[in-house]
Amino acid sequence: MKSTTMLNILVTGSDGQLGSSIKEYKNVYPNYNFIFASQNVFDITRVDNCFLKQNSINTVINCAAYTAVDAAENNQIKADLVNHTGVLNLALAAKEAGAKFVHISTDYVFDGKHYKPYTETDRVSPLSIYGKTKLAGENALINCTLKNSIIIRTAWLYSEFGKNFLKTMLNLAETKKNLKVVSDQTGTPTYASDLAHTILEILPLIQNDKTQIYHYSNEGAASWYDFAWTIMKEANLPCKIEPVNSIEYQTAVQRPFFSLLDKRKIKSEYGINIPHWRESLDKCLRKMGVKI
Ligand SMILES: NC(=O)c1ccc[n+]([C@@H]2O[C@H](COP(=O)([O-])OP(=O)(O)OC[C@H]3O[C@@H](n4cnc5c(N)ncnc54)[C@H](OP(=O)(O)O)[C@@H]3O)[C@@H](O)[C@H]2O)c1
Repeated sequence: MKSTTMLNILVTGSDGQLGSSIKEYKNVYPNYNFIFASQNVFDITRVDNCFLKQNSINTVINCAAYTAVDAAENNQIKADLVNHTGVLNLALAAKEAGAKFVHISTDYVFDGKHYKPYTETDRVSPLSIYGKTKLAGENALINCTLKNSIIIRTAWLYSEFGKNFLKTMLNLAETKKNLKVVSDQTGTPTYASDLAHTILEILPLIQNDKTQIYHYSNEGAASWYDFAWTIMKEANLPCKIEPVNSIEYQTAVQRPFFSLLDKRKIKSEYGINIPHWRESLDKCLRKMGVKI
């Protein structure tokens, strides 16, 4: 699906996992002119309302976020500044410029007590500061009544870039014979490259009078234990993965026990196909040069 009009696209937080994954596609879309902006050149907490208009930017993909879920518990002000105020700043600038706006949010806006895949209209009730600040960002954008804007809630992102569960497991497997991994939290590992591709494919089709929320993850379901076990199996690593309950692996923050996302809305409205997480894991491992 190729756009015929030129899109001048600002990608914020461009050195993160999703931003870096979008960069990988930069030569695939001849009608997309990308401006990749990392935090040190473009801080979303300090955006002038006129910035987008002055620079003829007609599309924003906001990949910038404070994503340190545990650290956020002790850094609420910083997390809120980026995940809430930063989103508001960008939304106001997008409104001024009449720009399309794609914002990314999280499954952690839910409390995980639902036990069937969450739809976009299900009740939100974040358990963590991270989830609360991301929800505040969603609401700030929605309250801006910005046309042609969407929020994509995603989950359990991993990629060949930055810090993520896959890379942590591969690193730990170099020195550890056994690893204990929680088996009572269910979600879907999501390859950031699949999300990046979906965003770029649907961009020309985004047309609405008010912000629409969509859910996107890879297909299938897994616990962190299943994910770790499959990583070791696919990468032929001898590290043994043992299941533990969350209660045995206490962290600073409570994570939802169940955060599967119902993806019917994005699939039906934009006609996209979503790969299964196992298929995408293999794709990512091959990209990283891991023999599978
Ligand atoms: N990672 C996940 O498992 C996950 C799950 C669900 C949803 N999401 C959402 O998906 C989106 C992309 O996540 P990701 O994994 O790509 O995150 P990431 O790798 O942590 O990237 C976020 C980027 O934002 C940058 N950033 C932080 N503060 C900023 C600011 N004030 N101005 C501009 N840039 C700033 C960070 O720069 P520094 O590195 O220099 O701080 C980083 O490069 C986020 O909205 C996240 O909340 C992620």
